[in-house]
Amino acid sequence: MKFFLDTGNVEEIRAATELGILDGVTTNPTLMAKEGKPFRDALLEMCALVEIVNGEVVATEAKRMIVEGREIAALHPNIVVKLPMLAESFKAMKVLHAEGIRTNVTLVFSPAQALLAAKAGAYFVSPFLGRVDDIANDGMQVLRDILEVYRPYNFQTQVLAASLRHPMHVVEAAKLGAHIATMPLKVFQQLFKHPLTDRGLQGFLADWEKARAVLGDIVPQETAKAKK
Ligand code: E4P
Repeated sequence: MKFFLDTGNVEEIRAATELGILDGVTTNPTLMAKEGKPFRDALLEMCALVEIVNGEVVATEAKRMIVEGREIAALHPNIVVKLPMLAESFKAMKVLHAEGIRTNVTLVFSPAQALLAAKAGAYFVSPFLGRVDDIANDGMQVLRDILEVYRPYNFQTQVLAASLRHPMHVVEAAKLGAHIATMPLKVFQQLFKHPLTDRGLQGFLADWEKARAVLGDIVPQETAKAKK
């Protein structure tokens, strides 16, 4: 499973890349607006950090989407152009795909919509699982249905589980076989945590400290000084 960060904040991406397991980034107009940084500059900075950056159009009419999509894609080879789940986006995709531009159909909430995205040859499809849960429906069931519908046809479209709000969303999406999970930095950081890990480490360090006189140092004092 690939991990994407769902953010418009370049510093968050930089911090997450240091962990060595970040594969890409998703942005959307709301996330970009929150940062208040010029769109193109922010996307370029992101592209220098990760291999996939999803940048979203704001047009809702095909002709304008094509213009915006070309503009965004031309910024950097790492860009994937996000288009909302609208019939107009399908007209735009026909043109953009013919030009070799990769797309991500976003704001997807049903297997029927996801099926259409795959038929159109989208590179990614983004079901928003948390938002389905928000209206008292089952987001994971939507993801399960999408993966089931894709399986017999061997569609190449990768399923990007989006709107993930907590670690169990990520785990459940992984169990179902979603290709990618995109999450806010907070959820990414939560994945590392377990109280037994903290307690276990405290115990290890305390025991080591008690026996330090006998055990010595892993890096001998002299070597440590010489390396400074
Ligand atoms: C994904 O591409 C979207 O930006 C995102 O996951 C939306 O999440 P939200 O429902 O938490 O806003």
